[in-house]
Amino acid sequence: MIENICCIGAGYVGGPTMAVIALKNPHIKVTVVDLNVQRIKDWNDSDLHKLPIYEPGLSEVVEKARGRNLFFSTDVDKAIDEAQMIFISVNTPTKTYGVGKGMAADLKYIELCARQIAMVSQTNKIIVEKSTLPVRTAETIQNILDNTGNGVSFQILSNPEFLAEGTAIADLESPDRILIGGNETPEGQMAIQSLVDIYSSWVPKDKIITTSLWSSELSKLTANAFLAQRISSINSLSELCEATGANIVEVSKAVGMDSRIGSKFIQASVGFGGSCFQKDILNLVYISKSLGLEEVASYWEQVIIMNNHQRTRFATNIIKTLYNTVSGKKIAFLGWAFKKDTNDTRESAAIYVADQLIEENANVSVYDPRVSEPQIRYDVKYLNSRSEEKNSKHLKVEPDPYKAFEDSHAIAVLTEWDEFRDYDWERIYKSMLKPAFVFDGRNILDSSKLKAIGFKIKSIGKV
Ligand code: NAD
Ligand code: UGA
Repeated sequence: MIENICCIGAGYVGGPTMAVIALKNPHIKVTVVDLNVQRIKDWNDSDLHKLPIYEPGLSEVVEKARGRNLFFSTDVDKAIDEAQMIFISVNTPTKTYGVGKGMAADLKYIELCARQIAMVSQTNKIIVEKSTLPVRTAETIQNILDNTGNGVSFQILSNPEFLAEGTAIADLESPDRILIGGNETPEGQMAIQSLVDIYSSWVPKDKIITTSLWSSELSKLTANAFLAQRISSINSLSELCEATGANIVEVSKAVGMDSRIGSKFIQASVGFGGSCFQKDILNLVYISKSLGLEEVASYWEQVIIMNNHQRTRFATNIIKTLYNTVSGKKIAFLGWAFKKDTNDTRESAAIYVADQLIEENANVSVYDPRVSEPQIRYDVKYLNSRSEEKNSKHLKVEPDPYKAFEDSHAIAVLTEWDEFRDYDWERIYKSMLKPAFVFDGRNILDSSKLKAIGFKIKSIGKV
């Protein structure tokens, strides 16, 4: 029976996932380790508002389990040494150098973990891939462990995570399914069973499915590809709606009511963001290309092409509507995070839209309820499109949304935060230059109400 777990990587997945595992299994000691000293300090902060990630319900879970059987530490070796089961939950970003640059997953952090586990371990251990990985990565990990270790034995499992940010705790507490892949050998089956036992503390048995390692690894990439494909499909039709007078909200509802299609993940938007959809599809494209499967690769690549187009189209529409020039004009951004209820901005559409507008000399003024000013500045800087001086001249971050609206020519909604719906839109209208434009990249505002106030509103996929 497992009594001691270590998780390497205290990020958006490692932190919440281990917090819930610890909460539901008080008899298991769970230690989450990370090289990032500040991150671990923040996880240990007695002020729960300072946790490094914002996720509804997370602080309550951490409060219950932390110090009881949930620990956050930078002592990676000690945690590895003591654990019977080690989750690897480190980042697997798109490669930015060398072979596969811009497409393949960068597995250097995974390899570092494998080497460290091999070096430290003195007892047999179960290694669980929690990170999203290319199919057959378990083979590489096994190879490193077997060839650089101390002769102890390792069983590798694949247990991909399906939580979405903003709903992580709810997703972890009632998952659609738990997927566990492992070897077909008796040792592999025993390892699978020990992980099934941990999840069985709160997940119904029929929701825990077990497969081969390769099916499990590939299912994770496939699930993300399918979800992103639905968004690109509806976004492609939003452009057709705008050209024909059809309304994407009506089309989406009508199509989604077919129970074979379903209503989730067909809301048109300024484009999907987040740390995973793009990187995982690029990874799928890269794997397919490497295997000579050109048609498969270009089929999935189209999902990314359409998403890039949707972001560019949104920014271009702002420029065109503002009489073909935004130079010197103030444009207020509502939202910077890639979706509501998270402080994560990775690959957020807002970054790309801002970049395009700054290139046209617009003055972008951003308000987001959860994203910090340094993060917003970092995101724009990271694209490396121009000098820092020009970025800081054209980018402002406002802690008060009403300040962002003052004397602006237009408002662009980039994130669907609930609070935006309830603003005093009469007051906002008065404080803006006229005509006062609103570009609703999330279709969350009541357009007839705004039109009645005097706004000129442009939504996604409807005229
Ligand atoms: P993250 O960047 O938030 O966290 C990863 C952490 O790992 C960082 O804090 C980093 O410092 C740490 N780390 C890297 N190398 C390390 C090492 N050698 N030793 C110790 N710590 C190390 O990433 P994330 O969003 O939590 O994603 C982790 C994985 O989970 C990725 O593969 C991602 O694709 C997958 N995933 C993410 C989500 C999501 O919603 N974010 C959902 C499902 C799956
Ligand atoms: C996504 C998946 O939903 C998770 O199952 C998966 O575990 C995770 O990726 C991962 O592997 O990282 P996440 O990226 O956190 O989760 O958030 P989503 O809710 O999927 O939203 C992704 C993007 O799509 C957001 O920008 C969101 O605004 C956008 N979106 C979503 C739409 O534009 N339309 C929709 O109908 C739904």
